[in-house]
Amino acid sequence: MAVSADRLWFDTARAFDGVAAEYHDTNSANPILRHMRARALSALRRHAAAGARVLDLGCGPGTDHPAMLEAGYSVTAIDISLEMVCRAQRRADATGGPHRPTIYCRSIDQLDTFEPGTFDAVFSNFGPLNCVDDLDRTARLVHDVLRPGGVFVASVIGRVCPWEIGLYLSRGNVARALLRFRQTAVPVPLKDGTVWTRYYTPGQVGKAFVRSGFIRSELHALGVVAPPPYLEAFAARQPQLVDRLLRLDAVVGGWPGVRGFGDHFLTVMRRAD
Ligand SMILES: C[S@@+](CC[C@H](N)C(=O)[O-])C[C@H]1O[C@@H](n2cnc3c(N)ncnc32)[C@H](O)[C@@H]1O
Repeated sequence: MAVSADRLWFDTARAFDGVAAEYHDTNSANPILRHMRARALSALRRHAAAGARVLDLGCGPGTDHPAMLEAGYSVTAIDISLEMVCRAQRRADATGGPHRPTIYCRSIDQLDTFEPGTFDAVFSNFGPLNCVDDLDRTARLVHDVLRPGGVFVASVIGRVCPWEIGLYLSRGNVARALLRFRQTAVPVPLKDGTVWTRYYTPGQVGKAFVRSGFIRSELHALGVVAPPPYLEAFAARQPQLVDRLLRLDAVVGGWPGVRGFGDHFLTVMRRAD
């Protein structure tokens, strides 16, 4: 069934509205998500110096913003969920001071509302890129809002998650094990709503951005030997094992042959011209 882009956008925004109240707290309490978040922010810090103008795409409730301000960035952020934007704005107001983030309720599809070359870095954490309808168009829009030499740092939900495949195959649920291999947007339930999600390999994302004038800079798997974040009950039962797996993930996640897999992947690309 083909679903219109407007419908995808509407459903996804409404689904995230429905979890905005608890999103920051539940995310912050999950050790696997905390680890992934730290790795994404560390990549941003490696590639963007203090003083950089950073645009956060799909910022959610602004969980990353205190760390971004601490790194000395000037932060602008967008999200399609009004409830998420309200939470991010509250977090920004609590920060106070002249350097608080500027936040808009806006879609990634509307990046052309920013002046070309406005940002030194564009950041997108935990899969907002998986919700856009046209990856090539997104890559062109991100290219245009970055200055030449600017950097794009994103964590994206991957197509091949070994843990997930193994888990669902072991339960005899082949369709669920192979869900991420679908080529169209998948309706993923989130509380009472639906997030329309497209799963990508790092190669698909890399090629779309290279076609738009980017050079690939870094790629790491997030959650390749460590379990996916939704197995937090397992993480609570086996904290030491999961901690070891997370540490191992940070080492082997950058290895060729491994970094193409995982629950998420972390990609860094630089605008060439
Ligand atoms: C999984 S949350 C991640 C939030 C945040 N980046 C974080 O690290 O906690 C994905 C966010 O992307 C937003 N989003 C989804 N599609 C979007 C779009 N097309 N444009 C802007 N934001 C979008 C959702 O509303 C949601 O807040």
